[in-house]
Amino acid sequence: MIPFQIHRRLPLVRRPFFQRDEAIAARDAAYAERDLLRTERDRLRNENTSLRAERDALSGAVPRPGAHPIPLSADTGALRVQVTRSGSQSEISPDMLADFQFRSGDELRITPLESEASVHRTPDGHYHLAVGTQRYRLPTRVVLTAINGYLFPEHLVVLTGAGTETLDVFGKAHVASYMKFMGLQAGMTFLEIGCGIGRDALQLIDVIGEQGRFIGIDVTWDSIEWCRKNIAARHGNFEFHHFDVTHELYNPLGLKSSLDFALPAKDHSVDRISAGSVFTHLFEDEIVHYMKEIARVLKPDGLAYATFFLYSTETIAAARRTNVTHNNLMFAYPFADGCFVNDSGYPTGAVAFTNEAMQRMISRAGLRLVRPYLKGAWSGLHSDPDDGQEVAILAAAPA
Ligand SMILES: C[S@@+](CC[C@H](N)C(=O)[O-])C[C@H]1O[C@@H](n2cnc3c(N)ncnc32)[C@H](O)[C@@H]1O
Repeated sequence: MIPFQIHRRLPLVRRPFFQRDEAIAARDAAYAERDLLRTERDRLRNENTSLRAERDALSGAVPRPGAHPIPLSADTGALRVQVTRSGSQSEISPDMLADFQFRSGDELRITPLESEASVHRTPDGHYHLAVGTQRYRLPTRVVLTAINGYLFPEHLVVLTGAGTETLDVFGKAHVASYMKFMGLQAGMTFLEIGCGIGRDALQLIDVIGEQGRFIGIDVTWDSIEWCRKNIAARHGNFEFHHFDVTHELYNPLGLKSSLDFALPAKDHSVDRISAGSVFTHLFEDEIVHYMKEIARVLKPDGLAYATFFLYSTETIAAARRTNVTHNNLMFAYPFADGCFVNDSGYPTGAVAFTNEAMQRMISRAGLRLVRPYLKGAWSGLHSDPDDGQEVAILAAAPA
C-alpha cells in the first residue's frame, strides 16, 4: 500500500525489513524493555498513590471511593498510531504526534495490539498518550469542523459538553451573561479557569480589545495547544497555560493536582474571572484552592462567575420530574459532606453541592457572594433560568 503524504519534515515510520530471526530477537528485546518500563511505571504509580493519600490525610481531604487508579503514562516504547486515510495506512510514533497534520476523516488506532490494550482510554473511547510533558487525546476518527475561520477538532469541542453546531452561540451566550451579571469593558484583564478550546475566549477578543488581557488555563493539553496555535498566535494579548492536573475524564495521564498550581496572575491584577462548568467536575479541596486563588488575584472591585450544580430538595425533585438534560442528572450518590455525584463509577463526571457546602467553600476561600445564586436550567426547576447551571457571582471578602 502506498502511504499518504504527511508533514513534509517528518519521515514516515515504516516497518523496517528484517530477516525472521532478527525480527523475533528485536521483538523479544522490545518486550523485555516494555516489561521493565511497566514495572517502573507500576512502582511510580504506587508511590504516587501513597503520596496522594499522604497529602489528602494532611489536608483533611475526603478520600475518593470509586476514583480510578490513574496510570502515570502509557508505555509508548513500541507503540505506534496507525492512521488510515482514504484507504492507505501509515504509522507514526508518539514523538511525531506534535507535528503530524491530521485531516478530517483520518481513522486512528494503536498498534501493535498488545500496546493498544495497555493504552489508557476514557469512556468517550479516546486514547491517551503521554510524551514528556505532552498529553495527547486521540479520537478513533478525526473530524475537523470550520467555524468562523478556525478549524476545530470535534473530539476537543465535545469536551465542553456541547457540539460544534452550538460552539458559537453558546460562547456568545456566556459572554452576554458575563456582561449582564459582572459587566465587561475594553481593556479589562479576564482570566478563565477551564477555558477548554477557547469557546469564550474567541468571543472576548472584540470585547476586551487589544488593550485587554486574556489568561486561560486548562488541564486538557490538546485544547491548550489548539488555543495557543489558533488564538494566541493571532492575538498577542491572549495567553493559555496547561496545568497538568489529573482528571479522570479530562486529563487521565496528568501527574499533579490543582493544588500544585497557582493562577498565572499577580495579586489583585484581574478584573473578571470565569469558571464555567469546572466546579461541576471537581471536589471540595480543589475548588477551595481555586477559590483562594480567585481571592488572591481579583482586584478589589473584581468579580468572578463560577457555575455549579446546586443540590437542594427543590432542584433534585424537579430533576427527577423533568429530566431535561441528556445526562440524567439526578445526583443520587452522596460522596462527601454536602457533595453528591451523578455516577459513582465516574464521580467527577458531574458533581453537585448543597448551599451549605458552597457557603463553606466560599467563606474558607475568603470570598463572598455578591448576589443570590443565578438560576440554573439543568434541573428544569425554573421557568426563567439565567444559565445552564447555578452561578455564584463572587468577590473578595473584606479583610
Ligand atoms: C465542561 S468543560 C467547559 C469548558 C469551557 N469552560 C467552556 O465552557 O467552553 C470543563 C473544562 O474544565 C477543565 N477542567 C477540568 N478539571 C480542571 C481543573 N482541575 N483545573 C482547570 N480546568 C479543569 C476541562 O479540561 C474542561 O475544559
